Amino acid sequence: MSEPSLSPQEEIAILKEQLTRAQRMAALGELTGTTTHEFNNVLTTIVNYAKLGLRHKDEPTRDKALDRILKAAQRAERITNSVLGIARNRKEEFAPTDLSQLVEESLVLLEREMTKYRVAVNKDFAAAPPVRALGNQIQQVLMNLMTNARQAMPNGGQLTLRIAHDEQANLVDLTVRDTGGGIPREKLPRIFDRYYTTKSGPDATGKGGSGVGLSTCRDIVEAHQGRMRVESAIGKGTAFTIRLPVWVEAASDADATAPVAKLGVPTA
Ligand SMILES: Nc1ncnc2c1ncn2[C@@H]1O[C@H](COP(=O)(O)OP(=O)(O)OP(=O)(O)O)[C@@H](O)[C@H]1O
Ligand SMILES: [Mg+2]
Repeated sequence: MSEPSLSPQEEIAILKEQLTRAQRMAALGELTGTTTHEFNNVLTTIVNYAKLGLRHKDEPTRDKALDRILKAAQRAERITNSVLGIARNRKEEFAPTDLSQLVEESLVLLEREMTKYRVAVNKDFAAAPPVRALGNQIQQVLMNLMTNARQAMPNGGQLTLRIAHDEQANLVDLTVRDTGGGIPREKLPRIFDRYYTTKSGPDATGKGGSGVGLSTCRDIVEAHQGRMRVESAIGKGTAFTIRLPVWVEAASDADATAPVAKLGVPTA
């Protein structure tokens, strides 16, 4: 018996779903790399200050060593919490999501990298209601945007994260702004194209250069019925804003599986 043949549309839907899965695996791999690296760094700090404390018996040195060990352990705790948050958010169901918490959890994983590249982080969070989101996917968008911002400022600069509630439109805006080199006007229409990149390859942190970051961001934001826009000025910097719908109890329950269905995957 021959296999039932698929229509081109069905084949495209299946390929799209496979691509989404592959992207998710790649993002998970990148996240595991970042997290392990961060954790390793914390451990190095703890080991070094423990050795210092053992070597020097005087009270001020021991106090200093213990203080550093405590701070490092607290950082390890935040990294673990962030990873636990990722595990907690893994379910494929839209849920009320606090954007400021997501930003904080993502920052924990990138703050050392920001310090290393002399990028100062500013937070400008207005009170905002939870949005309707798949937490991990929005976190992936954030990590992509913050990594792009950092890479746009090789000599350091300012990264500003802003959350604002647009009450009239019932949306929450999240802006990631950098003070990097900006994007030339003629290139702006291309940056969301899959595989479009101006980077020569991964940098010292192993990130950048495949050109899938922004196209994935846009797919994710669109699956959230959100919008994404960019503003850029040469020599001044770039700002990406994602706008996401506020969580509404009844309506959100009804179409919780909508984007999955849109990809043509059986939802039973
Ligand atoms: N904040 C930014 N400032 C300046 N240029 C940017 C910024 N964000 C994106 N770009 C430009 O858009 C291009 C595409 O970005 P995108 O994130 O899709 O790919 P990438 O960063 O090159 O590689 P990756 O897939 O690893 O993210 C970048 O190569 C860069 O030229
Ligand atoms: Mg990128």
